[in-house]
Amino acid sequence: MRSGNKPDRNLALELVRVTESAALAASRWIGRGDKEAADGAAVDAMRLLLDTVPMDGTVVIGEGEKDEAPMLYNGEAIGDGSPPVVDIAVDPLEGTTLTARGFGGALAVIALSERGTMFDPGPCVYMEKMAAPPEFADLISLERPLGEVIASIAERKGGTPEEVTLMILDRPRHEETVAEVRAAGASVRFITDGDVQAALLAVSEDTGIDLLWGIGGTPEGVLAASAIKCLGGELIGRLWPRDEGERSAALEAGYDLDRTLTTDDLVGGDDVFFAATGVTDGDMLDGVRRLDGGDLTTESLVMRSRSGTVRKIEARHDRAKLREVTGGRFG
Ligand code: FBP
Repeated sequence: MRSGNKPDRNLALELVRVTESAALAASRWIGRGDKEAADGAAVDAMRLLLDTVPMDGTVVIGEGEKDEAPMLYNGEAIGDGSPPVVDIAVDPLEGTTLTARGFGGALAVIALSERGTMFDPGPCVYMEKMAAPPEFADLISLERPLGEVIASIAERKGGTPEEVTLMILDRPRHEETVAEVRAAGASVRFITDGDVQAALLAVSEDTGIDLLWGIGGTPEGVLAASAIKCLGGELIGRLWPRDEGERSAALEAGYDLDRTLTTDDLVGGDDVFFAATGVTDGDMLDGVRRLDGGDLTTESLVMRSRSGTVRKIEARHDRAKLREVTGGRFG
């Protein structure tokens, strides 16, 4: 609702067609060992469907700079120029390796928010992130030792650190912190990829995950923050330059590398739209399934921060008609 007036258009309901198409297109590449082809198919499908959404959009989080990404590049204008005027963050295939290797947890993701409200990561590829559900949101910190954060979560739970579970990307750069987490008494559930889904799990109820921690993609951080604006909870992040070159490029561009960015810093505004469709089966969403007759099913999460509505949408796609309409691109 717009400040108590009439209900207005919920763009997320149009965005779900966009993520469904990307997921369907990517699903043809599940387990085929070609992550570039899977990503390319998702990008192509997402771009095509985005043209059907009336809006005045600019890609803030996209596939990279114009010279390296033929479409959905950072700065690309999308839509017919009609309102709303929005920033767009996309990850047509979050989990390219998961898809190529047939592992669970890959998603097609998009988020929109009012123009000028999305954090532009510039040259900063990675960010240290922490995410927690609403009941622990005030306890998370990137400045305090992780052991202390774990202890305060355990206390809030009325238990011991043994009852705290963190989800962490399995990377050599995390070894030291993983040892710290275990020394604090907490347990770790590793993921090989896909920290957007991990952030959603961390802020959702009854998932068994209390906290996400790890150094992962900055774009994924903005997308996860967009989802968290709708779901509740908190994600904080601090830019993490990989080398001296990236550090000086970030400093030159005016980024503060010591600052902890809050969810609101990553996505400001109060009208955020988010849609994600499962590509491969995950803890949050089922992946694309092929039914006996050949039809395909998808499961999507569709949310809007202003209304707080969270929808799970299951769809059945008639494969023959889909092929007819899309020239065989998606199914
Ligand atoms: P891709 O879909 O680009 O393969 O990214 C998956 C992912 O695991 C993200 O979820 C995560 O933020 C990032 O990669 C971590 O980066 P890296 O694999 O370089 O450690």
